[in-house]
Amino acid sequence: MSFKTKMDEAAKSKGSRLVLALDFPFEAAENRDKIFVKAQEVLKAVHPYICAVKINHHLTLPLGTFDGVQRLVEQIRGQGMLAIMDAKVNDIGNTNQIIGEYYFAAGFDAVIANPFVGWEEGLKPLFDVSKRLNRGVILLTYMSHKGASEGYGQTIVDSETGEKTLQYVSFAKKALKWGADGVVVGATVPQKIAEVKQILGEKVAIYSPGVGAQGGAAETAVKAGANYLIVGREIVNSDNPAQAARILCDSTKGI
Ligand code: XMP
Repeated sequence: MSFKTKMDEAAKSKGSRLVLALDFPFEAAENRDKIFVKAQEVLKAVHPYICAVKINHHLTLPLGTFDGVQRLVEQIRGQGMLAIMDAKVNDIGNTNQIIGEYYFAAGFDAVIANPFVGWEEGLKPLFDVSKRLNRGVILLTYMSHKGASEGYGQTIVDSETGEKTLQYVSFAKKALKWGADGVVVGATVPQKIAEVKQILGEKVAIYSPGVGAQGGAAETAVKAGANYLIVGREIVNSDNPAQAARILCDSTKGI
């Protein structure tokens, strides 16, 4: 079963399109062991309302990939969810392949990668290893922060057609051509979610971060075509993470 199908099934069985961004603020050395316990507690509280968990450097740096993070990934998968590593893989092909191999060895179901590096000797080796191990690759297409317009929003000349196009339109087309399992388009730019949806249909899923803390609205993003919402601080920093996750989950049911 492909990662995309596994996500479909997890979302159906959990009745949720929420991907939890399990991010915590910086902690000084003497407090770092508390991060692992906090992560376990948040997962225990919110797992009924989410279908997947996205891990970022917030956890791999203080806990280590094969120490704390691998144990959290086991907990995540044991609770019927999938685990996504937000590595934003962005290097030469050989390095990208090895980054993927380590995260897949730690149990991750998919990694996020940056299409700016291109295909040949860029992301192709990462896609090859992900297909071989039956895991997924999700491509950045239009990020959720304001400065995204400087790169993802720029007008470019398509190297194949010679025509002017927008960078994120080109990335959405590459996601189809390269067989990506998903793309990331910010919930802060719902018009761009709709444009990307026109290109991808249901062939490639749209993941939207930026709900809550960055100003995006869950319902608007889903109405524009987002399949999954990635949410961190709105849930994790809440006094009641389970309630925050349940409210978000319910707000996008039946759209
Ligand atoms: P918040 O707290 O803003 O967390 O809900 C969002 C999480 O998602 C990451 N993020 C992104 N990841 N493409 C990505 O791959 C994006 O456009 C993007 N925007 C935010 C962010 O680092 C945090 O982990």
